[in-house]
Amino acid sequence: MDAPRLRVPHPGPRTREYLERVRKAESATGLTFGLSPETLVMERASGAAIEDVDGNVFLDFTAGFGSLNAGHCHPRVVEAVQAQAAKGHQAMSLGADVRLRLMEKVLSLIPGPAEKRIVLGASGSEAAEAAIKMARRATGRQDVVAFEGAFHGRTQGALALMGRKGQRAGLPSIQTGIHHVPFPYSYRSPFGRDEASCMEGTLRYIEEFLRNPASGWGEVAAVIIEPVQGNGGMIPAPLGFLKGLRGICDRHGVLLIIDEVMSGFCRTGKMFSYLHEEGVEPDILVLGKSISGGLPLSACVAKKEICEASGAGTESSTYAGNLVACASGLASIQVYEEEELADRAAGMGDYFVRRLGELAERHAVVGEVRGRGLMVAAELVSDRASREPLPAAKAASAAALERGFLLYPGGHYANVLAFLPPLIIDEGHVDKAVEILDEVLLAVPRMK
Ligand SMILES: Cc1ncc(COP(=O)(O)O)c(C=O)c1O
Repeated sequence: MDAPRLRVPHPGPRTREYLERVRKAESATGLTFGLSPETLVMERASGAAIEDVDGNVFLDFTAGFGSLNAGHCHPRVVEAVQAQAAKGHQAMSLGADVRLRLMEKVLSLIPGPAEKRIVLGASGSEAAEAAIKMARRATGRQDVVAFEGAFHGRTQGALALMGRKGQRAGLPSIQTGIHHVPFPYSYRSPFGRDEASCMEGTLRYIEEFLRNPASGWGEVAAVIIEPVQGNGGMIPAPLGFLKGLRGICDRHGVLLIIDEVMSGFCRTGKMFSYLHEEGVEPDILVLGKSISGGLPLSACVAKKEICEASGAGTESSTYAGNLVACASGLASIQVYEEEELADRAAGMGDYFVRRLGELAERHAVVGEVRGRGLMVAAELVSDRASREPLPAAKAASAAALERGFLLYPGGHYANVLAFLPPLIIDEGHVDKAVEILDEVLLAVPRMK
C-alpha cells in the first residue's frame, strides 16, 4: 500500500459515522480516542500503512505504540498465527511446545553470565508488576525508585510507578514506598544541560538518597528504568548512565529492573536498548509489545535466585503465554533477526534525526531533535532560549493526521512529537513524514 493517499478529507463519512456510534458504546476512558478525538478507523493494514474505512491510507509512525517492529501483518507472522490458531490457542497451567520454544528463544537473546528464568504475562503492565513483586519478595524490602516521566503501565501497581499526574488523578495513594527521581533528561535536567553534568548529578542524587538514613526513603528493593523513556517523549538516558546506576544498585543491595517494553526487540538499533552500554546486566528485564509482534504477550526475565524467592503460581494469568501470541512472537523474532532490523533501525533512525534537524533549522518551535534508533522525537518550545514547553503535540498530531500521517504526541509537558515507526521503513517513508511535518510545524505557533 502506498502511504499516505487520501481519497476524501479526514475524517471521511464512514469514519464520522463510526465515531458517532463508538461514543455511545465505549467509555471515554478506553482505547479509541488515545491519539485524537477524530481518530482513524482501521480497515486493514500492511507494513507502515493503515487503510481506513473510507479508503484513506495513512503512513503509520506509531506501529501499535511500538508493538509492530516488523510492521503490520508481516506475512511470516500472519502465517504463523493462522497455523497456531488452527492447532490450539490456550494452555493455561499446561505445557506447550510453542511456548517453550518462545521462552528459550527470548532467553537466548539476553547475554550475561547469570542464569535466568521467565515469567510470561499478557501485557507490559502485568510484567512490570511481576517485576516489582518479585523484587520485593527477593530482597525483603518494600520501597521502589522510579523516574519522573516514567510509564510502566496503567494497572494499579504499575500506575504507582507512573510519572504522569493526569493518569494518576483521583487515585492519590495507590501504593506506598514509591519514590520518583529526575530522569537523566539533559534538555531539562535540574543538574545541568549537558549530558555529563546531567548524568553525574542524577546519579549522585540517587546515591545520596540511598545512603542518607535521613532521606525519607525506606529500604529500597529496586530501581526501575526505561533506558529510553518512551511515553515521556523518547528521551534516551545518556550512555554511561545505566552503568552508573548498576554500580549504585550493587553498592546498596538494590535490584536493577530495566523496562524494555517499548525499547526492546531491535527498536533502538540493538536487540535491547540497555545493550548500547557494555557491562550492564539487569537483575530483572521487563519485555512486552514487540515480543509478539502485535498479540498480547509480555515477559519478566529475572535471575534464577530472584525467581526462587517467589512461590509457585504467584505470577500468572489466564492469557499469559497464550499459544497464538507465542507463535506470533517466534515468527516476529525470526523476522527481526533475518531482516536485520536492528541495523535498519539504527540507520533509519540516524537518517530521520538528520532530516528532522533540517526542519529544526527552519522552525524555531523545535527546541530539540533526539533519538536512539527508531525512538525519535522533536520537542516543541515557545522560546528556544528559555526552553519553555509548547504543549501543542496533540494539535500538531491532529494536523498531521489530516494530511495522512500518524504520529505519537507525548512528552512530560504534552509538547513532544514522538515517532515509533515500524523498523521496516525506508528513506522514502522518512522523506514523506518530513515533508508533512514541515507543513504542520508552520502552523504550530498558532496552535494551543
Ligand atoms: C515502557 C513501558 N512499560 C510498560 C508499558 C505497559 O504495557 P501495556 O500497555 O502492554 O500494559 C508500556 C506501554 O506503553 C511501556 O511503554
